[in-house]
Amino acid sequence: MNLEAIRNDFPILKTQCAGRDIVYFDNAATTQKPLPVLEAVFDYSTHRNGNPHRGAHPFAIAASEAYDGSKETVRRFLHAKSTREIIYTRNTTESLNLVARSWAETHLGPGDKILITIAEHHSDLVTWQRAARKTGAVLDYIYVDRETGRFLPEDLAKIDDPAVKLLAFAEVSNVLGVRFDPKPLIARAHAHGAVVVLDGAQSAPHRPVDVQDLDCDFFAFSGHKMCALGGIGVLYGKEALLEDMEPFLLGGDMIDTVGEQETSFAELPAKFEAGTQYVEGAVSLEAAIRYVEAVGWDAIRSQEEKLVRRTLEGLRQIPHIRLIGPSDPAEKEGLVAFNVDDVHPHDVAQILSAEGICIRTGHHCAEPLHRYLGVGASCRASFYFYNTEEEVDYFLEKLKGVRPMMGYDD
Ligand SMILES: Cc1ncc(COP(=O)(O)O)c(C=O)c1O
Repeated sequence: MNLEAIRNDFPILKTQCAGRDIVYFDNAATTQKPLPVLEAVFDYSTHRNGNPHRGAHPFAIAASEAYDGSKETVRRFLHAKSTREIIYTRNTTESLNLVARSWAETHLGPGDKILITIAEHHSDLVTWQRAARKTGAVLDYIYVDRETGRFLPEDLAKIDDPAVKLLAFAEVSNVLGVRFDPKPLIARAHAHGAVVVLDGAQSAPHRPVDVQDLDCDFFAFSGHKMCALGGIGVLYGKEALLEDMEPFLLGGDMIDTVGEQETSFAELPAKFEAGTQYVEGAVSLEAAIRYVEAVGWDAIRSQEEKLVRRTLEGLRQIPHIRLIGPSDPAEKEGLVAFNVDDVHPHDVAQILSAEGICIRTGHHCAEPLHRYLGVGASCRASFYFYNTEEEVDYFLEKLKGVRPMMGYDD
């Protein structure tokens, strides 16, 4: 991987801050956009912009081609059977809400269980709380070992309960950094017919996805976490399930015929894409997938592994650092969350920000997990393939200065 050439594709990484190129370690929140993605959107907007599926003029046709064509790239990216199974949404959150509204709230009832994990992002948790409340289903949790971040084996047995009708979890936790191998869990849930929803927000940007091999029923991810523009997300769903679901939003372009009292809906995937579509987002996602695939999964993986390993080794040398989740680099994917004793995470972030380093602090939309771990908030450094070991070293050096700056002489 030619890191210098890659970084040249991301002009924002050259932003000057504290006398150097900014260090952007908030990639789990959103990634930066390379020039080929921005150029694809610029090219679409300057030569082809129109409203798709609604017109016979050249721009309407070009917009339809751009939008529909991008679906084939996403299908290939996910290894889905058909573009009928690819629904564009705004982000992972909207994808999960779609499943909650259009599947869970109409297919579950009293006596049923929704099973999620304590490590879930709020978008994969609050959604199921409401689905449970509305349907009378019970919401239950798989808890994690506080040291290793792994699911508690005794809790995994909950998957086998035939009352569990829906299992939802993130393939990679946005706080623990742990990857939960989805395939065996999916097979286990399927053994008694449960539907499985995978939150791929932190996995799809970093490793190949094969929804057919996984055999998941739904898979959600966000374009903005993998170099596309904000506002474009994807929900993959098995065709038979999607066919059996009511549309989430109603309006233009998702209908077949409309009468005064009754409407019949369009075929998949249009049934779930009401209103004028976000063609610029779709164009950016297609370009982003091409970009990421050109960098290559092996190169992405090896770069991220290097960065995580160096970070963990460095953190081990700094006194008063408390890691969240496992400390073994082999158990972490692309991010490291931690706390500095006696210093509020927001103070850590502010001190680092003054040095030109962007990290995330707070509960990272995983408040129940933080409460379970006994911490109110944490700091998180999250990487993408364009980050460098030199940036990690600079971050570690500045992190060393945090406690002294707060008046502690370690
Ligand atoms: C694991 C996980 N799920 C879901 C989301 C929600 O993503 P979005 O805000 O793009 O909908 C995030 C965002 O950080 C995440 O990390």
